[in-house]
Amino acid sequence: MKHFIDTKDLTKEQIDDLLRLSEVVATNPREFESKLKGRVIATIFFEPSTRTRLSFESAIARLGASNISVENANESSSAGKKGESIEDTIKMLCGYADAIVMRHPDNDSARRAVAVSSVPFVNGGSGSFAHPSQSLLDAYTIWKHRGSLDNVKIAVCGDLKFGRTANSLIKLLSKYNNTQVWCLSNKGMEFTDEVFDFMKQNNIPYTMCKGFADIPADVDVIYQTRFQKERAGEISTKDFVDLTITNKVMERFGPKTIVLHPLPRVDEIATEFDSDPRAMYFQQAANGIPTRMAILVSLLCNDKVKSEK
Ligand code: CP
Repeated sequence: MKHFIDTKDLTKEQIDDLLRLSEVVATNPREFESKLKGRVIATIFFEPSTRTRLSFESAIARLGASNISVENANESSSAGKKGESIEDTIKMLCGYADAIVMRHPDNDSARRAVAVSSVPFVNGGSGSFAHPSQSLLDAYTIWKHRGSLDNVKIAVCGDLKFGRTANSLIKLLSKYNNTQVWCLSNKGMEFTDEVFDFMKQNNIPYTMCKGFADIPADVDVIYQTRFQKERAGEISTKDFVDLTITNKVMERFGPKTIVLHPLPRVDEIATEFDSDPRAMYFQQAANGIPTRMAILVSLLCNDKVKSEK
């Protein structure tokens, strides 16, 4: 694995290796304390982030590497000052760092970056296109809960049009057997044709839902997402129906149905549900540490890292 750009590019074997390595990292963190000693990793974020940036930076610290970081890069890097291109920015960073993690609002930003990057590149979120490290931590959370990523029944809810997390996760789960998808969103917020075409081409059955009552009670995962106001622009939400997950909504689902959310949450999951054992979103966010450590180790260590449990 040279770069980490899109879950579509990963093989099932690569995902399995990353999941197993994440588990080894989670259970033996001290063994990895010096794994990337002497390396420098750049994190450059052109969009706001709490979880992705800070968990990558925490992962870098826990691996013994150093971090150079640009937050709010649109304003504080030369991209803002003089309109420096993604290509020039990446070429510069290749001289400063041994790996680059970048978040950018443009869908093609990660592809443009890897076209010129001579060091491993990690897509920390590119427009509404992809968020592969989020998908790995989502998959790790599901795998830890179920013990397998085969036969996953997942309901994806909320803003499926502008959100990058649900479509990235479906593409990851497509590598496994018998993934089934239920889609629940407001009118106009459905997946793009690219995602529907992907599901058709990969024989992933999907069902369009009008409400939570259309989702089977034994679904494994309800993956809730936030309305991406920053990408949706002037779209009116006045006719949107309420798709908030509440204790009442969750009464119809069984004890094994977990609720995930990439966070940040606005109001699409009522805080009353946070104490329910099926509310896994904060554990999910914490799983960003071992999974992002595993991504960096896989990209930067040539030696075969022992990843068997
Ligand atoms: N889930 C996620 O990408 O969160 P941040 O925007 O805070 O990084």
